[in-house]
Amino acid sequence: MVKIHLDGQTLEADHNAMIIEVADDAGVYIPRFCYHKKLSIAANCRMCLVEVEGVGKPLPACATPVSDGMKVLTQSQKTLHAQRTVMEFLLANHPLDCPVCDQGGQCELQDLAMGYGADRSQFEETKRSVSDKNIGPLVYTEMTRCIHCTRCVRFGQEVAGFRELGLTGRGGRTEVGTFVEKLMASEVAGNVIDLCPVGALNAKPSAKQGRPWHFTQHEGIAPHDALGANIYYHTMKDLKGSHRVVQVVPRLNEEVNEQWISDRDRFAYSGLNHADRLTQPMIKKKDRWVEVSWEEALSQAMICLDAIVKDKAHGGETIGGLIAPSSTEESLFLFQKLLRGIGSNHIDSRLKQQDFTHQSAEPIVPLLSKSLEHLEALETLWLVDMNLHRECPVLGIRVRQASLDQTTVLLTKTRSFKHRYERAQEVLVSDESLLSHVSEVLSACLSETKTTHLK
Ligand code: SF4
Ligand code: SF4
Ligand code: FES
Repeated sequence: MVKIHLDGQTLEADHNAMIIEVADDAGVYIPRFCYHKKLSIAANCRMCLVEVEGVGKPLPACATPVSDGMKVLTQSQKTLHAQRTVMEFLLANHPLDCPVCDQGGQCELQDLAMGYGADRSQFEETKRSVSDKNIGPLVYTEMTRCIHCTRCVRFGQEVAGFRELGLTGRGGRTEVGTFVEKLMASEVAGNVIDLCPVGALNAKPSAKQGRPWHFTQHEGIAPHDALGANIYYHTMKDLKGSHRVVQVVPRLNEEVNEQWISDRDRFAYSGLNHADRLTQPMIKKKDRWVEVSWEEALSQAMICLDAIVKDKAHGGETIGGLIAPSSTEESLFLFQKLLRGIGSNHIDSRLKQQDFTHQSAEPIVPLLSKSLEHLEALETLWLVDMNLHRECPVLGIRVRQASLDQTTVLLTKTRSFKHRYERAQEVLVSDESLLSHVSEVLSACLSETKTTHLK
């Protein structure tokens, strides 16, 4: 541990911590664009320049490790002058089209320009413009607004393990793009929208829907990644006065999804109001399906259930109820209450399970026995026949991180998938031999454990 002085406060810090990390922990804000806690340090925006006593020029707080006795001044004239100069350079080529920019009202550059920007520019030259890139149906680009912080590039390379965006050109010709035109195919590509500090990368399906102050934020749990990622639904009132989901963004939870979500959780909301969606109940009348009101449908259902319950040949216990496992806790509770109320205990949510042979040995609620954070500390992780990045993309991010840190990942598979984590060993087996392969490995592990215990 070392002692540093930050704006007069004496703080203790890890000897290899960066100034910006120590300042964040102490609640002192240093402006930044390229720095991001979950990404490597690029130090290319220079917005975090701060004065360090005894050092001639300001230093980037995100890339300067603390040292014992260091005196950092985040509010001195020298610091503010350096930060204002960087802002002037950033704005020299920036279009400043905030009124029509999707990021307006939630833009890091807009916010910091209020504090560090000047009311006029010394630059009289024509601003540069960059052609937009077509990178798919989910993310739309306005590349003239890009400030080359490379967060999106580092996310692909480091977190997703699927490098799709990169920097080309040098100096004033630097551009972010895919080089050869192609669509982003990663299952977590939408996270670059949140990472981009400006309006260069935006969500296509929610483009031009409204400003952040038009939205109401609701906490939610992601329904599509089998992990329970924490999210926010943003809703807005439409012309008829009903609330409509207009965007889904991640909610920080280090224990589950950190700050990432999968694309299917981010964009699936567009199905909620889709024209093809069934929103009205239907009843078959004279062999034809007819749309009816919910009151009529529910009273019809009650009449049918009542008839079975009162029928001596059947009774309530002959009724079974199946409910989707993704239903809310409240819906599940009410459903069982209804079924038990009519005398039935036949309630199930395992809609896709076909084999119930060993159900008495299965847990009532299938859960991981360890926390997701624990996963990254495992010595060895054996994955059996799973296409992790497709099946559970956010878990794929954790497994990738674990494989890059200290975990040895082994893989047994029956198909060839593209994997984005490091594998120490992988074995391709046929569908028929998968079971025997798994039991051989397990019995080898078991006998190894016994031998170790005996020793
Ligand atoms: Fe304005 Fe930010 Fe959009 Fe630039 S990126 S035009 S500063 S809202
Ligand atoms: Fe940064 Fe956005 Fe440009 Fe990517 S597109 S480098 S995230 S400003
Ligand atoms: Fe430090 Fe960009 S945040 S250089």
